[in-house]
Amino acid sequence: MYPACPLRIHELSADERAIYATLKPERLPQHVAIIMDGNGRWAGRRSLKRFLGHQQGAKSVQLVTETASRIGLPWLTLYAFSLENNLRRPRAEVNFLMRLLRSYLESNLQRMMDNNVRIRYIGRIHELPPEVQDKMRWAADATARNTGTTLTLALNYGSRSEMVDAFRALSAEVNAHHLNPERITEEDIHRHLYTAHMPDPDLLIRTSGEMRISNYLLWQIAYSEIYITDRLWPDFRGINLLEAIADFQRRERRYGGLSDSVGEVEHDPEQARVAAG
Ligand code: FPP
Repeated sequence: MYPACPLRIHELSADERAIYATLKPERLPQHVAIIMDGNGRWAGRRSLKRFLGHQQGAKSVQLVTETASRIGLPWLTLYAFSLENNLRRPRAEVNFLMRLLRSYLESNLQRMMDNNVRIRYIGRIHELPPEVQDKMRWAADATARNTGTTLTLALNYGSRSEMVDAFRALSAEVNAHHLNPERITEEDIHRHLYTAHMPDPDLLIRTSGEMRISNYLLWQIAYSEIYITDRLWPDFRGINLLEAIADFQRRERRYGGLSDSVGEVEHDPEQARVAAG
Protein backbone atom coordinates (compact mmCIF):
# COMPACT_ATOMS: atom_id res chain seq x y z
CA MET A 1 0.00 0.00 0.00
CA TYR A 2 3.02 2.30 0.42
CA PRO A 3 3.78 4.36 -1.60
CA ALA A 4 0.51 5.25 -3.32
CA CYS A 5 2.20 7.38 -5.96
CA PRO A 6 5.62 7.62 -7.67
CA LEU A 7 8.48 8.65 -5.39
CA ARG A 8 10.47 11.75 -6.38
CA ILE A 9 13.66 11.04 -4.45
CA HIS A 10 15.74 12.71 -7.16
CA GLU A 11 14.08 16.01 -6.18
CA LEU A 12 15.43 15.82 -2.61
CA SER A 13 18.49 17.93 -1.78
CA ALA A 14 21.81 16.08 -1.48
CA ASP A 15 21.62 16.32 2.35
CA GLU A 16 18.07 15.00 2.39
CA ARG A 17 19.03 12.16 0.04
CA ALA A 18 21.85 11.15 2.40
CA ILE A 19 19.37 10.73 5.27
CA TYR A 20 16.74 9.13 3.06
CA ALA A 21 19.35 6.53 2.03
CA THR A 22 19.59 5.37 5.67
CA LEU A 23 15.81 4.79 5.94
CA LYS A 24 14.05 1.47 5.51
CA PRO A 25 11.46 2.20 2.80
CA GLU A 26 9.16 -0.58 4.04
CA ARG A 27 9.02 1.05 7.52
CA LEU A 28 8.21 4.62 6.54
CA PRO A 29 5.34 6.12 8.54
CA GLN A 30 1.99 6.41 6.79
CA HIS A 31 0.93 9.46 8.75
CA VAL A 32 3.03 12.18 10.38
CA ALA A 33 1.34 14.83 12.53
CA ILE A 34 3.19 17.99 13.59
CA ILE A 35 2.62 20.56 16.32
CA MET A 36 4.25 23.61 14.74
CA ASP A 37 5.48 25.69 17.64
CA GLY A 38 7.98 28.50 18.15
CA ASN A 39 7.05 31.11 15.55
CA GLY A 40 6.86 33.83 18.20
CA ARG A 41 10.19 32.86 19.78
CA TRP A 42 11.85 32.72 16.37
CA ALA A 43 10.78 36.31 15.78
CA GLY A 44 11.59 37.42 19.35
CA ARG A 45 15.17 36.13 19.11
CA ARG A 46 15.65 38.35 16.09
CA SER A 47 13.86 41.34 17.65
CA LEU A 48 11.19 40.99 14.99
CA LYS A 49 7.43 41.27 15.36
CA ARG A 50 5.61 37.97 16.01
CA PHE A 51 3.79 38.08 12.68
CA LEU A 52 7.12 37.74 10.86
CA GLY A 53 7.64 34.46 12.73
CA HIS A 54 4.27 33.22 11.44
CA GLN A 55 5.18 34.34 7.93
CA GLN A 56 8.43 32.38 8.10
CA GLY A 57 6.48 29.45 9.60
CA ALA A 58 4.26 29.40 6.53
CA LYS A 59 7.39 28.90 4.38
CA SER A 60 8.32 25.90 6.51
CA VAL A 61 4.84 24.48 5.90
CA GLN A 62 5.40 24.53 2.16
CA LEU A 63 8.97 23.19 2.23
CA VAL A 64 8.18 20.35 4.65
CA THR A 65 5.11 19.41 2.62
CA GLU A 66 7.22 19.23 -0.54
CA THR A 67 9.75 16.89 1.07
CA ALA A 68 6.87 14.76 2.39
CA SER A 69 5.44 14.52 -1.10
CA ARG A 70 8.82 13.57 -2.61
CA ILE A 71 9.23 10.61 -0.28
CA GLY A 72 5.61 9.55 -0.86
CA LEU A 73 4.32 10.18 2.68
CA PRO A 74 0.58 9.60 2.34
CA TRP A 75 -0.66 11.78 5.24
CA LEU A 76 0.79 14.94 6.80
CA THR A 77 -1.35 16.74 9.40
CA LEU A 78 -0.26 20.14 10.70
CA TYR A 79 -1.64 22.00 13.73
CA ALA A 80 -1.99 25.43 12.18
CA PHE A 81 -4.52 27.16 14.41
CA SER A 82 -6.09 25.83 17.59
CA LEU A 83 -9.45 26.69 19.12
CA GLU A 84 -7.44 28.09 22.03
CA ASN A 85 -5.38 30.29 19.66
CA ASN A 86 -8.67 31.63 18.32
CA LEU A 87 -10.05 32.40 21.77
CA ARG A 88 -6.92 33.54 23.61
CA ARG A 89 -4.67 35.39 21.17
CA PRO A 90 -5.07 39.11 20.50
CA ARG A 91 -7.57 39.81 17.72
CA ALA A 92 -4.84 41.45 15.62
CA GLU A 93 -2.76 38.25 15.65
CA VAL A 94 -5.78 36.05 14.87
CA ASN A 95 -6.71 38.34 11.98
CA PHE A 96 -3.14 38.22 10.71
CA LEU A 97 -3.12 34.39 10.84
CA MET A 98 -6.38 34.32 8.87
CA ARG A 99 -4.95 36.64 6.20
CA LEU A 100 -1.76 34.58 6.12
CA LEU A 101 -3.75 31.41 5.56
CA ARG A 102 -5.62 32.94 2.64
CA SER A 103 -2.50 34.27 1.01
CA TYR A 104 -0.69 30.96 1.69
CA LEU A 105 -3.39 29.01 -0.11
CA GLU A 106 -3.49 31.44 -3.01
CA SER A 107 0.24 31.72 -3.54
CA ASN A 108 1.07 28.03 -3.00
CA LEU A 109 -1.73 26.40 -4.97
CA GLN A 110 0.43 25.94 -8.06
CA ARG A 111 3.21 24.37 -5.98
CA MET A 112 0.70 22.01 -4.40
CA MET A 113 -0.44 20.99 -7.90
CA ASP A 114 3.17 20.54 -9.05
CA ASN A 115 3.83 18.33 -6.03
CA ASN A 116 0.60 16.33 -6.41
CA VAL A 117 -0.50 17.48 -2.92
CA ARG A 118 -4.13 17.33 -1.87
CA ILE A 119 -5.18 19.79 0.82
CA ARG A 120 -7.86 19.19 3.43
CA TYR A 121 -8.83 20.60 6.82
CA ILE A 122 -9.99 19.42 10.21
CA GLY A 123 -11.52 21.53 12.97
CA ARG A 124 -14.57 23.73 13.50
CA ILE A 125 -14.09 25.25 10.07
CA HIS A 126 -17.60 26.71 9.95
CA GLU A 127 -16.59 29.19 12.71
CA LEU A 128 -13.82 30.74 10.59
CA PRO A 129 -14.48 33.98 8.65
CA PRO A 130 -16.51 33.27 5.48
CA GLU A 131 -13.87 34.68 3.12
CA VAL A 132 -11.29 32.31 4.68
CA GLN A 133 -13.66 29.37 4.31
CA ASP A 134 -14.20 30.30 0.64
CA LYS A 135 -10.46 30.26 -0.04
CA MET A 136 -10.08 26.97 1.82
CA ARG A 137 -12.84 25.36 -0.23
CA TRP A 138 -11.27 26.71 -3.40
CA ALA A 139 -7.89 25.14 -2.61
CA ALA A 140 -9.44 21.84 -1.48
CA ASP A 141 -11.52 21.60 -4.67
CA ALA A 142 -8.58 22.49 -6.91
CA THR A 143 -6.33 19.84 -5.36
CA ALA A 144 -9.01 17.18 -4.76
CA ARG A 145 -7.87 14.94 -7.62
CA ASN A 146 -4.20 14.95 -6.62
CA THR A 147 -3.01 11.53 -5.52
CA GLY A 148 0.14 12.29 -3.52
CA THR A 149 0.48 13.51 0.04
CA THR A 150 -2.72 14.66 1.73
CA LEU A 151 -1.81 17.80 3.65
CA THR A 152 -4.39 18.31 6.39
CA LEU A 153 -4.39 21.64 8.19
CA ALA A 154 -5.95 21.57 11.65
CA LEU A 155 -7.69 24.95 11.89
CA ASN A 156 -9.82 26.19 14.74
CA TYR A 157 -9.10 22.68 15.99
CA GLY A 158 -9.24 21.26 19.49
CA SER A 159 -9.20 17.55 20.22
CA ARG A 160 -11.68 17.70 23.09
CA SER A 161 -14.16 19.67 20.99
CA GLU A 162 -13.64 17.11 18.19
CA MET A 163 -14.66 14.41 20.68
CA VAL A 164 -17.65 16.47 21.81
CA ASP A 165 -18.73 16.73 18.17
CA ALA A 166 -18.24 12.98 17.73
CA PHE A 167 -20.24 12.13 20.85
CA ARG A 168 -23.05 14.44 19.77
CA ALA A 169 -23.19 12.65 16.41
CA LEU A 170 -23.19 9.27 18.16
CA SER A 171 -26.01 10.40 20.45
CA ALA A 172 -28.03 11.41 17.40
CA GLU A 173 -27.55 7.89 15.99
CA VAL A 174 -28.69 6.42 19.28
CA ASN A 175 -31.74 8.70 19.39
CA ALA A 176 -32.65 7.69 15.85
CA HIS A 177 -32.38 4.02 16.93
CA HIS A 178 -29.55 3.41 14.48
CA LEU A 179 -27.15 2.44 17.23
CA ASN A 180 -27.54 0.44 20.42
CA PRO A 181 -25.64 2.34 23.18
CA GLU A 182 -24.58 -0.98 24.71
CA ARG A 183 -22.82 -1.85 21.48
CA ILE A 184 -20.81 1.35 20.90
CA THR A 185 -17.28 0.41 19.85
CA GLU A 186 -14.01 2.27 19.37
CA GLU A 187 -14.71 2.03 15.64
CA ASP A 188 -18.02 3.92 16.12
CA ILE A 189 -16.15 6.75 17.83
CA HIS A 190 -13.43 6.71 15.17
CA ARG A 191 -15.91 7.10 12.30
CA HIS A 192 -17.28 10.30 13.87
CA LEU A 193 -13.91 12.00 14.35
CA TYR A 194 -12.76 14.60 11.82
CA THR A 195 -9.99 12.13 10.93
CA ALA A 196 -12.28 9.19 10.14
CA HIS A 197 -10.89 8.94 6.60
CA MET A 198 -7.22 8.66 7.61
CA PRO A 199 -5.02 6.26 9.58
CA ASP A 200 -3.86 7.31 13.04
CA PRO A 201 -0.50 9.12 13.09
CA ASP A 202 2.50 6.83 13.43
CA LEU A 203 4.70 9.75 14.38
CA LEU A 204 3.90 13.00 16.21
CA ILE A 205 6.53 15.76 15.97
CA ARG A 206 6.59 18.86 18.17
CA THR A 207 8.98 21.71 17.52
CA SER A 208 10.46 24.24 19.96
CA GLY A 209 11.10 21.80 22.79
CA GLU A 210 7.83 21.98 24.72
CA MET A 211 6.76 18.65 26.21
CA ARG A 212 3.03 19.09 25.65
CA ILE A 213 0.32 17.66 23.42
CA SER A 214 -1.77 20.87 23.52
CA ASN A 215 -5.15 19.26 22.83
CA TYR A 216 -3.99 17.80 19.50
CA LEU A 217 -5.37 14.50 18.14
CA LEU A 218 -5.72 13.03 21.63
CA TRP A 219 -7.68 9.96 20.53
CA GLN A 220 -5.61 9.38 17.40
CA ILE A 221 -2.13 9.48 18.98
CA ALA A 222 -2.81 6.64 21.43
CA TYR A 223 0.06 4.61 19.95
CA SER A 224 2.01 7.29 18.06
CA GLU A 225 5.73 7.69 18.59
CA ILE A 226 6.52 11.19 19.86
CA TYR A 227 9.52 13.18 18.63
CA ILE A 228 10.33 16.53 20.22
CA THR A 229 12.97 18.84 18.80
CA ASP A 230 14.29 22.13 20.17
CA ARG A 231 14.31 23.53 16.64
CA LEU A 232 11.74 26.31 16.22
CA TRP A 233 9.13 25.77 13.52
CA PRO A 234 10.34 28.56 11.18
CA ASP A 235 13.74 26.78 11.11
CA PHE A 236 12.23 23.34 10.51
CA ARG A 237 12.87 21.95 7.02
CA GLY A 238 12.38 18.77 5.03
CA ILE A 239 15.71 17.44 6.26
CA ASN A 240 14.43 17.71 9.85
CA LEU A 241 11.35 15.70 8.88
CA LEU A 242 13.67 13.00 7.53
CA GLU A 243 15.73 13.09 10.76
CA ALA A 244 12.53 12.58 12.76
CA ILE A 245 11.58 9.64 10.54
CA ALA A 246 15.05 8.12 11.01
CA ASP A 247 14.59 8.42 14.79
CA PHE A 248 11.13 6.86 14.47
CA GLN A 249 12.62 3.89 12.63
CA ARG A 250 15.02 3.25 15.50
CA ARG A 251 12.08 2.82 17.89
CA GLU A 252 10.33 -0.44 18.58
CA ARG A 253 6.55 -0.11 18.43
CA ARG A 254 4.82 -2.53 20.76
CA TYR A 255 1.19 -1.37 20.94
CA GLY A 256 1.01 -2.59 24.53
CA GLY A 257 2.48 -5.98 23.66
CA LEU A 258 5.94 -7.38 24.27
CA SER A 259 8.97 -6.91 22.10
CA ASP A 260 9.78 -9.82 19.76
CA SER A 261 12.77 -10.84 21.84
CA VAL A 262 10.76 -10.95 25.10
CA GLY A 263 8.05 -12.94 23.28
CA GLU A 264 10.63 -15.70 22.75
CA VAL A 265 10.65 -16.35 26.52
CA GLU A 266 7.27 -17.99 26.14
CA HIS A 267 8.89 -20.69 24.09
CA ASP A 268 11.59 -21.26 26.69
CA PRO A 269 11.11 -24.96 27.66
CA GLU A 270 12.56 -24.33 31.13
CA GLN A 271 10.00 -21.57 31.84
CA ALA A 272 7.20 -23.77 30.49
CA ARG A 273 8.29 -26.60 32.83
CA VAL A 274 8.33 -24.25 35.87
CA ALA A 275 4.95 -22.77 34.91
CA ALA A 276 3.47 -26.26 34.56
CA GLY A 277 4.65 -26.95 38.11
C1 FPP B 1 2.97 28.49 17.17
O1 FPP B 1 3.82 29.56 17.29
C2 FPP B 1 2.28 28.47 15.89
C3 FPP B 1 1.02 28.90 15.68
C4 FPP B 1 0.16 29.51 16.69
C5 FPP B 1 0.35 28.76 14.43
C6 FPP B 1 1.07 28.03 13.34
C7 FPP B 1 1.05 28.88 12.15
C8 FPP B 1 1.93 28.82 11.15
C9 FPP B 1 2.99 27.82 11.07
C10 FPP B 1 1.92 29.80 10.06
C11 FPP B 1 0.73 29.77 9.20
C12 FPP B 1 0.39 28.45 8.66
C13 FPP B 1 -0.18 28.29 7.48
C14 FPP B 1 -0.66 26.95 7.07
C15 FPP B 1 -0.32 29.36 6.53
P1 FPP B 1 3.69 30.49 18.57
O2 FPP B 1 3.19 31.80 18.08
O3 FPP B 1 2.85 29.83 19.60
O4 FPP B 1 5.18 30.54 18.99
P2 FPP B 1 5.73 30.83 20.46
O5 FPP B 1 5.28 29.71 21.33
O6 FPP B 1 7.22 30.86 20.25
O7 FPP B 1 5.17 32.17 20.87
